[in-house]
Amino acid sequence: MKEVGEIWMNGTLVPFKDAKVHVLTHALHYSTSVFEGIRCYNTPGGPAIFRLSEHVDRFYKSAKLYSMKMRFTKSKVTEGIIKTVKASRHKECYIRPLAYYGYGAMGLTPTQNKVDVSISCWEWKMGESRAGKFSGAKCKVSSWVKIDSRSQPMQAKAASNYANAALARMEALDNGYDEAIMLNSHGKIAEGSAENIFIVKDGMIQTPPLSAGGLEGITRDSIIQIVEENGGLVTEGDLERDDLYAADEIFMTGTAAEVKSVTQIDKVKIGNGRMGSVTRALQKSFSDAVMGKDERFLPWLTFI
Ligand SMILES: Cc1ncc(COP(=O)(O)O)c(C=O)c1O
Repeated sequence: MKEVGEIWMNGTLVPFKDAKVHVLTHALHYSTSVFEGIRCYNTPGGPAIFRLSEHVDRFYKSAKLYSMKMRFTKSKVTEGIIKTVKASRHKECYIRPLAYYGYGAMGLTPTQNKVDVSISCWEWKMGESRAGKFSGAKCKVSSWVKIDSRSQPMQAKAASNYANAALARMEALDNGYDEAIMLNSHGKIAEGSAENIFIVKDGMIQTPPLSAGGLEGITRDSIIQIVEENGGLVTEGDLERDDLYAADEIFMTGTAAEVKSVTQIDKVKIGNGRMGSVTRALQKSFSDAVMGKDERFLPWLTFI
């Protein structure tokens, strides 16, 4: 990690290296934190944050689902995000707002402790999302079952959800794959470890409903809107593992992944084993949207 710029901690920008917490911070022990992942793009019109208000809204929804009393208003956090990006001088970066039960009482009950909020950003480097961007990712259907809302609120982007996702990701990588696909406890496709999933079959685009256990992805929503604006349709419907194997194309979406092609699931080649034309076209449309090249989607950008 390159220590560049400053980190917003409870309303104050502090030097990157000084953004520290106590080892008895509640969230470190009990996973009681929620967060966001947002991108700032270096567009021809200057750096712009993609769908900032939707990310801030989801951040507050996640906090509510964990009964967090937020000390800062949405507009203060929005302003903090912009200030943090500006202070970093990054033209293109990944932004990570985090709300967590902090240092205070020690024990399972979090609500006696204050909720601390931090906003960090760092240089964007295409790492894990590289596979899928150019060639096509190889995905493994995970042996880890996706946790569901009988156990935890799945529409919270909560740190605790990611232990399950990280186990799936590690298993996939250990077995020579690029990414995991998670089934829910009914055996239906939920999502990737950190992306939503879509299939293309006979020209129809389908994605699992949120009730299958995936996060309400902002990229997922962007793709649905782009397809609809272009006169197409995305249907929501449960997907079986068979549907993946038999698909003509598969792609995944996420803030980090953007639109990522999947060309192999387990040992099965998807379609002709190369990135399909629908995926390629959506990659281009999404890239135009985030780069401010498609006027219809300019309201999604916050120029800083
Ligand atoms: C579990 C999970 N699903 C889906 C997504 C995609 O969501 P978004 O497009 O809002 O980044 C993410 C990433 O945030 C994620 O962590």
